[in-house]
Amino acid sequence: MPYPERRMRRLRRTPALRRMVAETTLSTADLIAPVFVREGITEPHPIESLPGVSQHSLDSLRAEAERLTGLGIGAMVLFGIPEHKNAEGSESWNPDGIVQVALAALSKDLGDDMVLIADLCVDEYTDHGHCGIVDAEGNVDNDATLELYSRAAVAQVDAGADIVAPSGMMDGQVASIRAALDIAAYDETPILAYAAKYASALYGPFRDAVDVTIAGGGDRKAYQQDPANVRESMTEIQLDVDEGADIVMVKPALSYLDVISLAREQVDVPIAAYHVSGEYAMVKAAAANGWIDGDAVAMEQTLAIKRAGADLILTYFAGELAEALRSQ
Ligand code: PBG
Repeated sequence: MPYPERRMRRLRRTPALRRMVAETTLSTADLIAPVFVREGITEPHPIESLPGVSQHSLDSLRAEAERLTGLGIGAMVLFGIPEHKNAEGSESWNPDGIVQVALAALSKDLGDDMVLIADLCVDEYTDHGHCGIVDAEGNVDNDATLELYSRAAVAQVDAGADIVAPSGMMDGQVASIRAALDIAAYDETPILAYAAKYASALYGPFRDAVDVTIAGGGDRKAYQQDPANVRESMTEIQLDVDEGADIVMVKPALSYLDVISLAREQVDVPIAAYHVSGEYAMVKAAAANGWIDGDAVAMEQTLAIKRAGADLILTYFAGELAEALRSQ
């Protein structure tokens, strides 16, 4: 019986037909690999809650970056774990701080073959685990924190960062970092802004990865967004674009596909989405139990993030996906 739906089914018959009419394709060029570098270690430390991901030593990071480049990955985002933390997170702008040292080594090794993105926040560097300066009442002081971010931005670009990515959700962070970079004659360095960043429970494994515990069992709900809200994201994203963001990010990705899709309609700058640690860990855990096919789910989820409107996807699956895409 020639049902009208047969029109679609005719084009589903073979892999070649499906590929020919696919509306969305995932490419290795869309992927950004998050990597962790830890000061003072000589061997990589596997992160238990992120199977397949490690805290790298400087040397093992360099090897990992070579491996990712060989797979065709064109961008990495760096997170540092310093040996010493303090109230201001001063290792985030110390020229000899671990991320600056790593950026210098990687930019020397890889030149223009790899876009080096520096996550720009102080939570990995502060002893209280917050993304900024904490005042006497225990609240994050927004304006005092902007000064730290500006210092860190310039130090990261001095060291070799191609892009800085402020992730602290402070008001005015993009404008103040843009101004600091321009003054330092880094007016050609783009800012990838974590523009719509939710106070999500899906960052759990990441906090293991960077050894961050928020003092007193605190949380970030006063500066990161409420998962209940979507209109608020559109305002945050628009403000970041107005302040000079060159790329805006939505984070996490899968539970916020509506945000990605609305953002795609609202702004013309590239949109990145962060498939975060908890999203990765859930797939790995279910796959390890034999409950799902992890490789297939990883591909399906990243394709869905792209379909929703993201141009770029930060994912711990980057290496595995690049391998799968290569053999497709
Ligand atoms: C903050 C930052 C976080 C992540 C990236 N940058 C943690 C947070 O906001 O608490 C989370 C990434 C992930 O879960 O994979 N520097």
